Amino acid sequence: MRTAVVLLCWAALAHLASRPAPADDKKPADDKKPAETVDVQKDVYPFLRKHCVSCHNDVTGTAKPSLTGFQDARAIRKDGDIWRAIIKLSASGVMPPANRAKPTAKEVDRFIRLAPRLMEGEIDRK
Ligand code: HEC
Repeated sequence: MRTAVVLLCWAALAHLASRPAPADDKKPADDKKPAETVDVQKDVYPFLRKHCVSCHNDVTGTAKPSLTGFQDARAIRKDGDIWRAIIKLSASGVMPPANRAKPTAKEVDRFIRLAPRLMEGEIDRK
């Protein structure tokens, strides 16, 4: 009898666990990504490479600072002030400058949602 009860409980739990998420839970998967699973090379750096590095690099030196070093989380944490500026200037649309093709709203949203998670603590994005 005891075994049957235990088995029933397992069955109930397994059923609960396998249920799909509630219908109102429509957040994109990125929102659930904890900091440690944000992949700099895949989630964050491509934005910089596409929209920023043509000016902010060590070779042409068109603009400072060079952003080519921000390719892993350790470099980002080490230069938190610059990383914060990168997020702010991207969020406000100040960078890239007006004479350059703007990133799409979707690209910017994704970048400013994931980039802060690579830093310690909270950041003020205003
Ligand atoms: C067309 C060239 C160009 C592109 C592309 C560009 N920037 Fe800049 N950026 C500049 C210039 C010019 C400055 C002024 C500093 C300088 O003269 O070195 C600057 C300044 C900055 C600064 C320093 C601001 C400060 O307060 O010192 C940051 C951070 C920055 N840009 C981030 C970005 C980011 C992030 C992107 C991409 C989203 C980007 N930039 C794209 C030209 C560019």
